[in-house]
Amino acid sequence: MTITAILSALAQEQHGLIELLQRPRKVTHAGRDFWQGELHGQPVVLALSKIGKVAAATTAAALMERFGAQRMVFVGVAGGLGADVAVGDVVVGQFFLQHDMDASPLFPRYEVPLYGRTLFGGDAALTKALFEASQKALSNPHLHSAYPAATAHLGLIASGDRFVSGAAESSSLRSALRSVGHEVLAIEMEGAAVAQTCYDYGVPFAAVRTISDRADDTAHVDFPSFIDQVASRYALAIVERLLKTL
Ligand code: ADE
Repeated sequence: MTITAILSALAQEQHGLIELLQRPRKVTHAGRDFWQGELHGQPVVLALSKIGKVAAATTAAALMERFGAQRMVFVGVAGGLGADVAVGDVVVGQFFLQHDMDASPLFPRYEVPLYGRTLFGGDAALTKALFEASQKALSNPHLHSAYPAATAHLGLIASGDRFVSGAAESSSLRSALRSVGHEVLAIEMEGAAVAQTCYDYGVPFAAVRTISDRADDTAHVDFPSFIDQVASRYALAIVERLLKTL
């Protein structure tokens, strides 16, 4: 059976999954804990990406090289950048880019040098399954009583090594990307790095992010309280539904 890796950014988002794990085995490797076992009859390995692009790419490479991960699902939180992307919504990544990649004038702004591309895509089938699982999870009103209009979006996620916590910064980021044709829905710190690593290894990748803040002047306050109260429940509900359909 296909081994599914489930990457979480934060420990709070992983706790519920570890509790559900059948035949759990913990292995420490490259300074990280990896949890092997089964969830809903599927062989899985759970890991924390750590924070930022390099740490996440290292975790992803270890999952594939050392733990035999054959598909990779990232579950985490993000700041909402799209106009209609609200706190409590969910964004599933159709494409990923690195908003802090800039090797201009040698290469076009945002293009990853020597790959000849700016965007890395989520795997079509896995992304569709993850989007459907997210929609189903959100259709349960008990999941998000504080967010009655919570919506699942599918689109572009931008990653970079910055926690964006300012309305001016987030709007200039959004317009800079828009000026070269990229309409970004959410911003975080790992997805594009994991997408690139999975591209290198030919491993299907999909990512879902619950919107914890609007990357504006209150982002640093909204983010931690959201993680504790909401994000872990979303992560569990979405992953359980996904695994039942794979
Ligand atoms: N993850 C969640 N919120 C974020 C933000 N505002 N910037 C970067 N990563 C995030």
